[in-house]
Amino acid sequence: LYVVVLAGGISHERDVSLRSGRRVADALIEAGHRVVLRDPDAGLLPFLDEERPDVVFPALHGSSGEDGSLLDLLRALGVPTVGSTGAAARRAWSKPVASSLVAEAGLSIPESIVLSHEAFRELGAASVLRVVRGGLEGDLVVKPGSGGSAQGVTIVDDTNDLPRAMVEAFTYDDVAVVERRVVGTEITVAVVDTGDGPRALTPVEIEPTSGVYGFQARYNAGETTFYAPSRLDDDVAAVVSDAAVLAHRTLGLRDLSRVDFIVDSSGRPWFLEANVIPGLTETSLVPLAIEASGTDAPTVYGGLVRSAAA
Ligand code: DAL
Ligand code: MG
Repeated sequence: LYVVVLAGGISHERDVSLRSGRRVADALIEAGHRVVLRDPDAGLLPFLDEERPDVVFPALHGSSGEDGSLLDLLRALGVPTVGSTGAAARRAWSKPVASSLVAEAGLSIPESIVLSHEAFRELGAASVLRVVRGGLEGDLVVKPGSGGSAQGVTIVDDTNDLPRAMVEAFTYDDVAVVERRVVGTEITVAVVDTGDGPRALTPVEIEPTSGVYGFQARYNAGETTFYAPSRLDDDVAAVVSDAAVLAHRTLGLRDLSRVDFIVDSSGRPWFLEANVIPGLTETSLVPLAIEASGTDAPTVYGGLVRSAAA
């Protein structure tokens, strides 16, 4: 097949996307496809219209791909595309929306307070502190309402640091989420559907050397210990896998996603977020899950493009 892999874009995760795109292109070439790697710049639509590839594989993280707008355009052009529709992407891209939907479906989500930048300015730091102290206990995680790669995310163990953490989150989104930090094991589950329904790959456990899985810990080899498969008991791993597939289905995601959880000491998974176009770089989690599941990237990505073209 003739596949155009989209990578780059103008999001905060441009560099990560370029790395993902290169890996995907290599794997698809290995699977025997003809591949062109393309940045989604202003010339993209005429290019696709002219070239008429069999499939587009968007390896675009952040707003360039995961907010759904470009996915809508690809659909309007009628190009078969790997992954979720724009509408589903928007549901998952907004962390508050995604959390509410999966909670309705029965998953556990950490208690949180969501504040817009405007409300934050209006209330002032002192009232915000009172609201948060009244509603949430223990350490907090402050994050932008959308976004990836842990950018703009701060762990707050002293509530006096909360306003600064929120201002940081507002540099990425108009909305900030202040969430109770769940203590437990960080687990991520890739969900893949190459035509026979979504299934979970082997859950991967994340143990960052610094204790926090931030940007550095994500993209510098050796900064994080991964366990693939995770060290969870088999029955807990099965519960987390089912939770991931349920989140994928609830949000209406397609083909490929990655759902992140903290599993507490009782074995209960707490949903953190679903990634519409998860990282596929050499240090990313989905490639690890693919290997740990006894398959390989050419097989999985090849299956995704064949299924999208069918
Ligand atoms: N947002 C990054 C790419 C990830 O989820 O892996
Ligand atoms: Mg993410």
